[in-house]
Parts: sequence; structure tokens; C-alpha cells
Amino acid sequence: MKLSFVFIELCFTELVSMVTVQQPPIVPAIRGQDVVLPCFLRLYPEDQLTEPPVLYWKFNPQSQIRVWVPSETYQGRVSRLNGSSDSQDYSIRLRDVRWSDGGLYLCMLTVTTKTRDSFRRSGNRTALGVHDRLVLVRGGPGDSWLGCEVNVSRDADFTLSVLHRGALLQPVAGDRDAAGGAQPFVTLSQTVSLQGPGRYECRLLLQGQLVTASSFHVNRTAAACGGACVEVESDTEAVAGEPFKLGCISCKTRGEVKAEASVSWAFMAKGDTQFSELFFYETSPGLILDERFEDRLNWSGSKNTRDLQDGSIYILNVTFNDTGTYRCFFNRVLIHTNHKVSSNPNRTIVLTVVPRLTREMASILSEVMMYVSIVGLQLWLVVEMIYCYRKISAAGEEALRENAAEYLAIASESKENCAGEAAAE
Ligand SMILES: *[C@@H]1O[C@H](CO)[C@@H](O)[C@H](O)[C@H]1NC(C)=O
Ligand SMILES: *[C@@H]1O[C@H](CO)[C@@H](O)[C@H](O)[C@H]1NC(C)=O
Ligand SMILES: *[C@@H]1O[C@H](CO)[C@@H](O)[C@H](O)[C@H]1NC(C)=O
Ligand SMILES: *[C@@H]1O[C@H](CO)[C@@H](O)[C@H](O)[C@H]1NC(C)=O
Ligand SMILES: *[C@@H]1O[C@H](CO)[C@@H](O)[C@H](O)[C@H]1NC(C)=O
Ligand SMILES: *[C@@H]1O[C@H](CO)[C@@H](O)[C@H](O)[C@H]1NC(C)=O
Ligand SMILES: *[C@@H]1O[C@H](CO)[C@@H](O)[C@H](O)[C@H]1NC(C)=O
Ligand SMILES: *[C@@H]1O[C@H](CO)[C@@H](O)[C@H](O)[C@H]1NC(C)=O
Repeated sequence: MKLSFVFIELCFTELVSMVTVQQPPIVPAIRGQDVVLPCFLRLYPEDQLTEPPVLYWKFNPQSQIRVWVPSETYQGRVSRLNGSSDSQDYSIRLRDVRWSDGGLYLCMLTVTTKTRDSFRRSGNRTALGVHDRLVLVRGGPGDSWLGCEVNVSRDADFTLSVLHRGALLQPVAGDRDAAGGAQPFVTLSQTVSLQGPGRYECRLLLQGQLVTASSFHVNRTAAACGGACVEVESDTEAVAGEPFKLGCISCKTRGEVKAEASVSWAFMAKGDTQFSELFFYETSPGLILDERFEDRLNWSGSKNTRDLQDGSIYILNVTFNDTGTYRCFFNRVLIHTNHKVSSNPNRTIVLTVVPRLTREMASILSEVMMYVSIVGLQLWLVVEMIYCYRKISAAGEEALRENAAEYLAIASESKENCAGEAAAE
């Protein structure tokens, strides 16, 4: 008794599964273009339709909005892909896709077969995700970052990812901007800092599946293109009586993040044991804090910005008393969207001052050496010529010819050697 019950049940499920409605779980669409929502009836050969099935498509199934047969909102925008009555293709084409078309679509069929009377079978719903063009932008200081942006329909499971030479990059900024809630779409954006030359690719994924991609080729790194921040060491030897630039550059670690900074300099003269305040800069022209440097310092760093990365100063007229250790401190605040991070990088420069004279003396010396060597060389040349002339006239014609033959023999021998080596290679 129990066995027969099981048998009936098995039989029943088998019959039911002979009819299925198949539709893909996700379909991406480009706004303004047409999209096909596939749906197929699968009927096992043992069974047969006795009447043409009745098709329904519903948008966001709970809301009962009819897409097929088109309700008022879809009038003129929806058509069957294959209207033939014996077709098992129940796909529809949706024209001129709008943001509001993003959502779930259910394909439903009322079927009557030889083995079973009229019954309903549904697909497993298709999520339609609507997207726009992917836009790539370069920006930041020296174009040091790459941003990727796209508008997508709400509630769709779209994600962006950026790859460099095929490797996934960690975004420095990512956003899912709800556009204030007033728009029927959301803006996805992702920003990465450039890691060097090569191909950068931005990918749009829908439920983890690639929908579209856009790539960008970077030939040189941002730093090499100029304009970007490059940390250059300061010179450490100044000439007395001449101007000198004390270099101090501290690049932001996150080029794309806004920042504000001030720079202070301290000085410890040779023989001293402590630093004393020298200069402070936040806005032009800055403050000289050490009277020994009164009227002798100028700001030579970043201009017309609060985002200082070059904190160099200029000593207008170097004296020997300027010999010693200089240290510059950045007091930087990185302004992220919802928090601030401060950092205090510093640089140390040990300065030696050399007299201007040593330079002048050196150049005089080299000039003298030049004359000495020119005159010396010419004298030697004259002596050599006279010596040769005497030797030649003394040796006579015979000896000369012998010499020439000897020379030719040596030349051909070395040529043979070369050829031999070349063949051996
Ligand atoms: C429509 O379906 C029928 C039956 O399957 C098929 O013969 C016909 O080629 C299809 N037409 C198109 C345009 O696909
Ligand atoms: C239908 O979709 C749900 C979730 O979307 C999934 O869990 C389920 O396995 C699907 N069923 C079939 C038959 O594909
Ligand atoms: C997203 O839409 C807004 C508003 O229409 C537009 O300003 C913006 O450029 C769009 N972004 C992209 C990447 O198309
Ligand atoms: C980068 O190099 C490629 C090929 O070498 C070239 O086609 C492209 O125009 C270059 N791009 C830029 C921005 O210079
Ligand atoms: C630099 O200082 C020296 C001595 O203090 C002075 O003779 C010279 O004129 C100064 N030069 C400049 C450019 O100020
Ligand atoms: C130094 O700064 C003063 C005042 O800003 C300016 O007049 C002078 O030209 C500057 N000198 C140099 C060498 O930059
Ligand atoms: C250097 O320092 C010494 C001792 O402090 C002082 O006498 C001298 O005038 C200073 N020289 C200059 C050029 O400032
Ligand atoms: C300067 O910076 C280094 C790290 O770069 C740090 O270890 C050191 O303590 C700093 N010096 C001062 C005086 O702040």
C-alpha cells in the first residue's frame, strides 16, 4: 500500500517535470537600446501540447504589472520574438530601455498537454540590469589616478572593478551614489591610483558576470610625466656669499586625497647641541623666526596652495655661520570624505659652506693646467716631428721601402686573425 503511494508520487513529479519554462537569471541592458528577455518552453518528447499555451510576462511579479500581453505602460514597446503559434520561443523584445525597466521579469505559461489539463508553469525570473556608458577619467596631481564611473538602474547587483595588467586593484575610493534618491539610477564609481605603465581595465559586472569593460593604456607613470610630486634630495654644499636653496619635498602618499599642510624649519648651527626655530610657512610670505637669518630667507616651495608638497626655502646670501643641520617638518592633514588624518614627515639636511674662493681658484687652476697642457703638447709634437724628419733622412730610400713591406705584412696577418676568430664564433 505504502509502496504504491510512493510510486504514484514519483510518477506525478515525473509528469510535472516534463514541462518546464526556462529563463536566464540575469540580463544586462544598455539604456536607450533594445533588449531581449529570453523564455523557452521545454516539453519532453513523451508529452504533447493539445492547445497553444497562453503567455504572460510580469514585471516585479508582486506588483502584477503586465508586460505581455502589454498593459498600457508597455503599449508599443514590447513584441514577441517569434509570434508563430507552434514556436516554443516565448522571448520578448523590450524597446528603448529606460532606467525604470530595471527589475525582475517573470515568464509564465498556461499549458494544456495530452497527459494533463490546463496548468501554469513559471520560469525562475530574470533580473534586468540597466546600465549606461562606462566613463574613464584621469585626474589628481600629474594625472596620478584613474576613475571609472557608470550609471546603473537601482536595485541591480552591479559592481565595478579596476584591473592593471590583469590584476585586480584595490580602489582608493569607491562610491555607490544614490544621486540624492531623486534619480531613477545610481552612480557607481571607483578610483585607483596608477601603479605604473600598462593597461588599465575597468569592468562592469552584474552578479559577478562581466557585462562590459573599458580600458585605458598608460605609457608612462604619472611621476615621469612631470607636474607630479617627486622627492628630490637637497644639495648639501653651499657657497659663501651666494644664494642657496634648502630643498625639502614630501609627496602625499595618497595623491588624490585633498590635504592642507604647513611647514616649519629648524636649524642647529655647527657646534650647537639643540635645534632652534628657523622659519614657518603656512601662507605667503612665511615667517623668519631666527634673527641670524633676518632678511636672508625666502619661501621657495609650493605656491598658491594650502596643499604644500614642496617646502623648500632660499638662503639669499650664505655665510659660514650657516653651516650646520637643517630640518624641515610638514604638518599635513589629509582630508578624507568623513575623517581627517594627520601626518608629520620630516627631512634633515646637513649643510657645509665652502668659500667662493676655492671655486675660483679651482677654475683658475684648471685654466692654467689647460694652457700648460696645450703648450706642452705642441712642443712635444714639434720635437717629435724634428726627430722623425732626421731619422727618415738618415735611413734613406731602401730602409723606408723595407719598413713599408713590414707594415703591410703585419696588417694582413692581423686581418687573417680577425677572419679566423669570426669563423670560429
Ligand atoms: C519561429 O519558430 C518556428 C517554430 O519553432 C520556427 O520554424 C521559425 O523559424 C521561428 N522563426 C524565427 C524568426 O525564429
Ligand atoms: C530559482 O532562483 C532562486 C533564487 O533566485 C534559486 O535559489 C533557485 O535555485 C532557482 N531555481 C532554479 C530551478 O533554478
Ligand atoms: C550619470 O548621470 C548623471 C546625471 O544625468 C550625469 O551627470 C553623469 O555624467 C552620468 N555619469 C556617467 C558616467 O554617465
Ligand atoms: C601609448 O602607446 C600606444 C602604443 O605604443 C599608443 O598607441 C598610444 O597612443 C599611446 N598613448 C598615449 C597617451 O601616449
Ligand atoms: C652677501 O653678504 C656679503 C657679506 O655679508 C656682502 O658683501 C654681499 O654684498 C652680500 N650679497 C648679497 C647678494 O646680498
Ligand atoms: C624674496 O622675497 C621678497 C619678498 O617676498 C621679494 O621681494 C624678493 O624678490 C624675494 N627674493 C628672491 C630671491 O626670491
Ligand atoms: C658668524 O658668527 C660669529 C660668532 O657668532 C660672528 O662674530 C660673526 O659676525 C658671524 N658672521 C656672519 C657673517 O654673520
Ligand atoms: C622624522 O621622521 C622619522 C620617520 O621618517 C621619525 O622616525 C623621526 O622621529 C622624525 N624626527 C622628528 C624629530 O620628528
